[in-house]
Amino acid sequence: MDLINVDYREKIPNNVNLTEDRRVLKALEGWHPGYLDWWKDMGPDGFQEALVYLRTAVSVDPKGWAKFDYVRMPEYRWGILLAPQEEGRKVPFGKHLGEPAWQEVPGEYRAMLRRLVVIQGDTEPASVEQQRHLGKTAPSLYDMRNLFQVNVEEGRHLWAMVYILHKYFGRDGREEADELLRRRSGSDDAPRMLGAFNEATPDWLSFFMFTFFTDRDGKMQLESLAQSGFDPLSRTCRFMLTEEAHHMFVGETGIGRTIQRTCEAMVAAGVEDPADIARVRSLGVIDLPTIQKKLNLHYSLSLDLFGSEVSTNAANAFNAGIKGRFRETSIDDDHRLESSTYPVLKYVDGEIKLVDEPALTALNMRLRDDYTRDCAKGIERFNKIVERSGVKFRLALPHVAFHRQIGEFKDVEATPAGVLLDAAAWAKQRDNYLPSAADGDFIASLMKPVSEPGKFASWISPPKVGIDNRPGDFEYVMIAA
Ligand SMILES: [Fe+2]
Ligand SMILES: [Fe+2]
Repeated sequence: MDLINVDYREKIPNNVNLTEDRRVLKALEGWHPGYLDWWKDMGPDGFQEALVYLRTAVSVDPKGWAKFDYVRMPEYRWGILLAPQEEGRKVPFGKHLGEPAWQEVPGEYRAMLRRLVVIQGDTEPASVEQQRHLGKTAPSLYDMRNLFQVNVEEGRHLWAMVYILHKYFGRDGREEADELLRRRSGSDDAPRMLGAFNEATPDWLSFFMFTFFTDRDGKMQLESLAQSGFDPLSRTCRFMLTEEAHHMFVGETGIGRTIQRTCEAMVAAGVEDPADIARVRSLGVIDLPTIQKKLNLHYSLSLDLFGSEVSTNAANAFNAGIKGRFRETSIDDDHRLESSTYPVLKYVDGEIKLVDEPALTALNMRLRDDYTRDCAKGIERFNKIVERSGVKFRLALPHVAFHRQIGEFKDVEATPAGVLLDAAAWAKQRDNYLPSAADGDFIASLMKPVSEPGKFASWISPPKVGIDNRPGDFEYVMIAA
């Protein structure tokens, strides 16, 4: 790729009139080579030359915002697209409620806004780094394509946040944009900012759990930033949400197809007891109790992303009109929350109790509750798959006190049912609740790549429909292109 003569006006699909915005265009031109270096170092390992059937966002028209075509990932057109400006939009909450939404950063909230943009921006490249080895063990070309789609879109989300930094935050924005390319998931000296984004994603079930649980946290964060009184941030996040939906689709259908395959194999072999792990595993599928353990792990890691249940930062961001609640505008209350309360689950005198807290400081808890409800609906859809097969087993979300590193429960241990345990009992039980080294080894043993079009690994069912309505044997990735 000719980096010097790239025509950036053509190269970056955008609806922000970049051609006319010389300063920002120049800043992005300066940032692009470092981004490509990062992509080549930390993006999908071993597939940079492959032709991948990808969708590219080319407009924000809800009826046709993306086009599909074969692309080499380093040549993907990472664009900058903001949802259309809403005429006369007002700040929808906090102490500026009803004032016109800001088109520029309000000076007094500059530091707070920059921090929120940087934290969001940091998660985007982190997940690409976490997933970079997975292409080599893809259970099918269909799944491989979905992985790469998620990866290039997380790259685009990084572009979206970097655009905001360059456009609205001057020199310190530029420095932050460079730092986003310097930190690395799991690094000792320059780790990513949030815990879950420094964990390994060692296998495809982890990837599906990550896109189900952690991308869904992303959805909740984007939904609350989409409410922001700072209009460019709101518009950016609204468009990112259209892409995010596909990431969660990948997670949900990935877990669902794994469960489906396990149940089918059990029924075909006449295995009635889901706890007969050795027999189920001998069928070349992942037993349901291990799927439950993976779910326990990823849900608890994702809960930590919501921060402390009681938080003055969250209250300040809401008061300032910077970060709202999930679907703020459809909530029927005063949108100021100065005198209301919200029940928070806390650890008090050795017990787990619901305690009323001022609603403003309890905003993280509230967003987390919305998240939990969203997750629970997905779990019910998984249980329907199990039920339909006739297998007797139910998956469930673990208690919020289970396996936490952040917030009220970080210093205690609890079972997935929410019963408190002392350290010795936890150590004894841990491998019954979370994936053990042996579970990891077993899953790893199933991760054999399948690259023949229309074929799938032993442990996962084919999807019901193809991407972009392509037939079952479509060659989603031309590996040796
Ligand atoms: Fe993202
Ligand atoms: Fe995502």
